[in-house]
Amino acid sequence: MGSSYLILMLTITTAVASPVNNQIHFLTPHSGSADHKHPYLDCLSWRVAVEANNLRDWTHIPESCVDYVGHYMLGKQYRKDCDIVAAEAYKYAKGLNISGDGKDVWVFDIDETTLSNIPYFARDDVAFGFVPMYWTKFSQWAEKNVAPAIPGSLKLYKKLVNLGFKIVFITGSREASRQPRIRNLKAVGYTQWMKLILRGDNDQSNAVAYKSGKRKEIEEAGYKIRGNMSDQWSDLLGNNPGDRTFKMPDPMYYVA
Ligand SMILES: *[C@@H]1O[C@H](CO)[C@@H](O)[C@H](O)[C@H]1NC(C)=O
Ligand SMILES: *[C@@H]1O[C@H](CO)[C@@H](O)[C@H](O)[C@H]1NC(C)=O
Ligand SMILES: [Mg+2]
Repeated sequence: MGSSYLILMLTITTAVASPVNNQIHFLTPHSGSADHKHPYLDCLSWRVAVEANNLRDWTHIPESCVDYVGHYMLGKQYRKDCDIVAAEAYKYAKGLNISGDGKDVWVFDIDETTLSNIPYFARDDVAFGFVPMYWTKFSQWAEKNVAPAIPGSLKLYKKLVNLGFKIVFITGSREASRQPRIRNLKAVGYTQWMKLILRGDNDQSNAVAYKSGKRKEIEEAGYKIRGNMSDQWSDLLGNNPGDRTFKMPDPMYYVA
């Protein structure tokens, strides 16, 4: 068990070109699964329900599934689930045969879509807990801006740039963190974009209203949003639902 984590950790830390040593710690072991023959069956159902947006407004991973989610996030399955989204997105984007007039936009969310906060969630003092009392800790990690890239998304990003798409990043992070976020994106390989939209420091609207408002502005400026990619349904719903959306996996937290 320990050594398989070590291998995963090495895979994660070496696969990303982060300037920082993203040490991923061992998970705190959790017990309490009801069915010992198929200990993760209920948790798999939970995760599928989360990804399909059938389960909403959840505030934390069920206690008995924390260990499952930890293994999922650190293991190969999460990577594969990201890769298939990226592969489908590329197939779709390529098939659009865009003219290259510079008007075709691809929107990416940042956290858990292009950058990963796994190094934070896997810390042994967090252990995939995402309860309100951890917000402070999360902000402290986020302020460091040393998140690694999600490998499948970075590959997709580069291919989209080559196809001639204009990249727009929209994040719920506040305007105050613009420079550090730019440094983080660039450090891991996201080197260019048309727009990086952050949330105004005093903007109190909810995520759907905020992000769909921003996308509307892009369309009003004459651009076509051809693809939207995010780990949160709240980013993919709302006004102006466009050509296609791509949902990245995220069983760690839910943003309304
Ligand atoms: C893009 O080009 C390919 C190959 O020419 C063609 O098969 C496909 O239908 C085109 N797609 C669109 C959306 O026009
Ligand atoms: C993405 O969402 C925004 C607003 O919800 C919309 O303007 C845009 O057309 C969407 N694009 C796709 C491909 O879903
Ligand atoms: Mg996100």
